[in-house]
Amino acid sequence: MKVTVQELETLISNKLIKAGLNEEHANVVTDVLVHADARGYHSHGAMRVEYYAERIAKGGINNDPAIQFEKTGPSTALFEGDNGVGHYMAKKAMEEAVAVAKENGVAVVGVKNISHSGALSYFVEQAADEGLVGLSMCQSDPMVVPFGGAEPYYGTNPIAFAAPSSSGKKVIFDMATTVQAWGKVLHARSKNEEIPDDWAVDENGEPTTDPFNVKALVPIAGPKGYGLMMMVDILSGLLLGLESGNKVTSMYEDLTEHRKLGQLHLVINPEFFTSAEIFKENITNTMNELNQVKPRAGFDRVSYPGQRSEERAEKSEHIEIVDDVYEYLTSEAVHHNKYDHKDPFAK
Ligand code: NAI
Repeated sequence: MKVTVQELETLISNKLIKAGLNEEHANVVTDVLVHADARGYHSHGAMRVEYYAERIAKGGINNDPAIQFEKTGPSTALFEGDNGVGHYMAKKAMEEAVAVAKENGVAVVGVKNISHSGALSYFVEQAADEGLVGLSMCQSDPMVVPFGGAEPYYGTNPIAFAAPSSSGKKVIFDMATTVQAWGKVLHARSKNEEIPDDWAVDENGEPTTDPFNVKALVPIAGPKGYGLMMMVDILSGLLLGLESGNKVTSMYEDLTEHRKLGQLHLVINPEFFTSAEIFKENITNTMNELNQVKPRAGFDRVSYPGQRSEERAEKSEHIEIVDDVYEYLTSEAVHHNKYDHKDPFAK
């Protein structure tokens, strides 16, 4: 189903507001979700609205959070989200991080007690749009086997990075530390498609191609991805005094409860290390050089990270969303009680 960007925005924000979210927060969530869908990250787009609506309606997301921003040092700060909606909290915290990095060269901002914040590229782009380098990482539900394990311990703990160039384009690297994000399995479920055999494992820890038989995801590159997801959990969880590992709350556990998740933003001001203009020119050169690398058979070109998704977004006046999601968004229902106390891997 193809819809215009504007129609999708209206449908999403209306639904979130109907669920009880205030308009300002709903508009930011909408912006982050449409950002994801426009870039082809459908796993983090409109398909998440019904889950958010159910959690908002049941009180698991605080509609009137007492946000606090506390500088803890010249370049460090804590942003208390009071379990408000994660997208809004992560955006506001990045605005603070940008201001600190502009003044002091670097900012490390811990974002505490938030709900799911969606596609992290949105937040690191905020930094790059200001001529800064942005990094962000966050905790996520424990649904990944640690290397050598047969049961989940860590989340899909994503990491994102963005840097500005002199052309106005940005390099944007944004990935889950699993071979695939859980949302991609959900997307395969919603389209009734098989998944590749290296994405996930079944209840015996064996690879599976049936998205409905998935009992855990697997880290990228074995022990290396496992180490990265541990690093994300330590920096966005333990460092902020939050729960970690398999004690991180699950998305579908109890939708009346707050999730208390953590996220860490790190922003670097190139001016404190080199000339900002030369840095941006060098990023442009890097992008061009990567594009000029001879492609192997089957590839039209070598792209720099983020290039394909940004090109898709530039062209997307219309966005493809699955029919079921459109049906829900255009229905009168706030939600269908689908997610509460659901086994995260349930069919
Ligand atoms: P992905 O696998 O689609 O892309 C990963 C990276 O590879 C991107 O930077 C992309 O630009 C780059 N890439 C892809 N194809 C490329 C090509 N042909 N040439 C050059 N670069 C290429 O991303 P993934 O891991 O599926 O994550 C999707 C989204 O899910 C992200 O936005 C992530 O932040 C979000 N996420 C959020 C979570 C949360 O709890 N908030 C948890 C997990 C993921």
